[in-house]
Amino acid sequence: MSRKIAIYPGSFDPPTKGHLDLIARGSRIFDELVVAILRNPEKTSLFTVAERKEMIELLTSGYKNVRVDTFEGLTVDYATSLRATAVLRGIRAISDYEYELQMALMNRKLQPSLETVFMMPAEHYSYISSRLVREIAGMGGPVGALVPGLIEQRLRAKFKSAGDFPKRSTSKASAPQGKRGKTRTKKS
Ligand code: PNS
Repeated sequence: MSRKIAIYPGSFDPPTKGHLDLIARGSRIFDELVVAILRNPEKTSLFTVAERKEMIELLTSGYKNVRVDTFEGLTVDYATSLRATAVLRGIRAISDYEYELQMALMNRKLQPSLETVFMMPAEHYSYISSRLVREIAGMGGPVGALVPGLIEQRLRAKFKSAGDFPKRSTSKASAPQGKRGKTRTKKS
């Protein structure tokens, strides 16, 4: 029987606990899972592609069937070049669905033999997005509940070196909780 290869494409800027949860789940159902970081020169990012690749490699070193790569161009072309049969994407809430459905159907149009597989991260990660992590970390807020320790350190270093990590005043604006933390946005 042929090996089932899946790619998990995304920006991962930075990788979050939600991404890691999805990688763990994907690694259990596919023979090989390739975490594929999009090289997108048109989009400004906090971490370089090389930094993101290194971080995800460190975080996934315990998985024998997971590797990390970068790609540019169409996801379907990259998947085909690897003989992958599936694209793994995470759906956190119904608000993700519309965007993900459109992308999955467009990818199917482009490459009918490629299946998109949606998985849900653990519900306690469902409010986490890279965009919010960047925003909170950039304002000196706590992100320890949202990203692995390694990423928290890298975020601190990044904002410190940019001279951009202000001290937050008192506890009112703590980690996202309740309604505020559940804000749904397009994935990033
Ligand atoms: O983590 P993100 O930013 O939501 O990931 C989006 C990503 C990288 C999966 C998507 O933008 C993508 O597939 N880009 C590659 C270009 C492409 O194939 N575009 C057509 C998608 S239907």
